[in-house]
Amino acid sequence: MKIVSTVEELRIALPTNQTIGFVPTMGYLHEGHMSLVENARRENDVVVMSIFVNPTQFGPNEDLDRYPRDFERDEKLARDAGVDVLFYPTTETMYPLDMARVTVHHGADVLCGASRPGHFDGVLTIVSKLFNLVQPTRAYFGLKDAQQVALIEGYVRDYFVPVEIRRCPIIREETGLAKSSRNVYLSDVETVEASRIFSALTMAREALDTGQQVDEVKRQLTERLNEIPNSQIDYVELVDYPTLGAVSSDSTELLLAVAIQFERARLIDNVIWKKG
Ligand code: PAF
Repeated sequence: MKIVSTVEELRIALPTNQTIGFVPTMGYLHEGHMSLVENARRENDVVVMSIFVNPTQFGPNEDLDRYPRDFERDEKLARDAGVDVLFYPTTETMYPLDMARVTVHHGADVLCGASRPGHFDGVLTIVSKLFNLVQPTRAYFGLKDAQQVALIEGYVRDYFVPVEIRRCPIIREETGLAKSSRNVYLSDVETVEASRIFSALTMAREALDTGQQVDEVKRQLTERLNEIPNSQIDYVELVDYPTLGAVSSDSTELLLAVAIQFERARLIDNVIWKKG
């Protein structure tokens, strides 16, 4: 595995005439990231991973400074997973002048975008820079960040970026808790309680299967999530997917998405429901 940190080194390390599967990450790798690498390996000649904690997607009062980082551990995991090129740039490399950024036009005013203003502008800005540098054939994103996936797909379509976006399923603990780098902030008790998020989402999906109305499903889901002790609901939403607009009679896929604040961790999770 080649480890590179400058644009020049990356350009030299990238193959020509081979397909590139790209896995962008912010590090502190877990099984969710590993499954993205597995998919990328299967479908491409070469796998490139980036590790960069992107400052522009964190708000002023968010956890940029304490976001978990462990490059030595990540490097070993990436190597063992079969990553060919690991791009580990500095902020100065990724934001040399910081003169231009991408702005989301639609879909950033709901779900995480509503509680984290500017977050998705930061995500699309860094993803756009990384796509330009790596020029991947395919790029792999986990559906735990379903809003991120929808906005990246929209960006790629609107800007005619020649990359195929591959949606990958959420990887969960046996308890149902979605794997996340931020799970390290949970206490043992919170880790147990947090598994109730997925049970509540599963029940909501089943309620949709039985034909219950969206408002009623949302009410019951909110009630169940409110029962999780020492936590607070940030949002509970059912939206059309991947447009992220309001659910209508034409909707064929719904995103049931929630964000729950524990003492030190804000967790997001979701399920996608497809019309019978
Ligand atoms: O999903 C993430 O880890 C980040 O949002 C991404 C896509 C690597 C951009 O910083």
